[in-house]
Amino acid sequence: MKKNLKIEGYLKRARKEGFAIGQFNFSNSDQLKGIVEAAFELRSPLIVGTSPAEVNYLGLEIAVNLVAAWKVKLTKRLGRSFPLFLNLDHARDLKVIKEAVFRGYDMIHFDGSFLSLKKNLQETKKVLKIASQKKVLVEAEVGQLGTESSTIYKEKFMIQDSFLTKPEDVEYFVRESGVKFLAVNIGNFHGVQKIGKNPHLRIELLKEISRKNQNIYFVLHGGSGIPFQDVKEAIKQGMVKVNFNTDLRLAFAKAILKELKEKPEEIAPYKYLNQGVLAIKKVVKERIKLLGSAGKIV
Ligand code: 13P
Repeated sequence: MKKNLKIEGYLKRARKEGFAIGQFNFSNSDQLKGIVEAAFELRSPLIVGTSPAEVNYLGLEIAVNLVAAWKVKLTKRLGRSFPLFLNLDHARDLKVIKEAVFRGYDMIHFDGSFLSLKKNLQETKKVLKIASQKKVLVEAEVGQLGTESSTIYKEKFMIQDSFLTKPEDVEYFVRESGVKFLAVNIGNFHGVQKIGKNPHLRIELLKEISRKNQNIYFVLHGGSGIPFQDVKEAIKQGMVKVNFNTDLRLAFAKAILKELKEKPEEIAPYKYLNQGVLAIKKVVKERIKLLGSAGKIV
């Protein structure tokens, strides 16, 4: 009970005060280290996420325990509870969802966007039922992203209009499911474009969706590469969580590659991997400042 009220309390606060909480994905303990240290130093509430592939690599139980260990450590350092939450990102498999709920994830993002709206609703209801047993928060999704994380598009990526979230679909979905936390597609996509910035967000569309669904917490996926001004506008219109992955992966890989190139004789992992940790920390700090969540720990 307490756990849920805590994350919901932060989302409520974010909506009221006009900031957003970042979700940063990880698949190893070095990435996680860079992320949590950045949030701790800026005193920002934090959501860390694992996609199905990331869970597969790391192991669900390991992910839960790593995050729990950081929470204990940072709570001690802070002298009060450090708001660190773990989200199962883009989950589709009910078996994995069940395991995550019962092993200690704080939130589940059920990605039914690849299904018809009706089927998405049916499956989301199943997830809500499972999650309610542990009072875990569920993020649903209406509209399609249609892209994978970590893709660096060499050419301009075109978002099909049929992928965008329709305001009437949100009204129907929210009414029928009772979901409070929803990812929408307003022109965002996973990954980044090599040339130029990702396309601008359709702020007018978000305004319309948000106006008709004032009590819903909206989530922006595909945070990497979106022009900062657009992210700020989206937060003003009700986005309370923004997800980032590709930007962190790029920074991590680049820093380690550079280090190994410069010092090919260096084989101590804690030395060359630390360059990746520092690079992630820098990116996460920038994103936290962009979202306005620094100093928001109660
Ligand atoms: P990016 O990789 O584009 O930042 O998207 C991450 C994401 O939305 C995870 O759910």
